[in-house]
Amino acid sequence: MTDYRNLISEAMKARENAYAPYSGFYVGAALLAAFEKDGKPLIFTGCNVENAAFTPTNCAERTAFFKGISEGVRAFRAIAIVGGKQGAVTDYTAPCGVCRQVMMEFCNPDTFEVIAAVSEDDYKVFKLKELMPEGFGPDNL
Ligand code: THU
Repeated sequence: MTDYRNLISEAMKARENAYAPYSGFYVGAALLAAFEKDGKPLIFTGCNVENAAFTPTNCAERTAFFKGISEGVRAFRAIAIVGGKQGAVTDYTAPCGVCRQVMMEFCNPDTFEVIAAVSEDDYKVFKLKELMPEGFGPDNL
């Protein structure tokens, strides 16, 4: 598996593309697939994409997930998230409730890791189950 540092660095790069003129909060995410491609880690990146009508806004995490899903990937291992006002990141950004629910759809809550990062050296790692206790997912249907 790719190391956390690499995944965080990919999330930081994705953050540079964030479209956040309304909130001014720029987020990048990097989602690691459960298998490699051509011997290399398979990573889908995403940024938040806001909208003048506000509700169509898509978070960085969901952008990354939907890119992966639309490329045919269904199994994921971890996601790194980096967010903050323009400039340097100063705090950890945890995924919103909607993004957690999307993670529940495609990830094993016992093993999927959510890495909330300030930098490559400063991050917290959560299991999805910790962020979504008693969650509802495909296994409940
Ligand atoms: N946002 C994300 O992209 N991911 C998160 O984990 C938290 C929130 C975005 C949505 C919106 O564009 C901005 O950050 C402020 O909520």
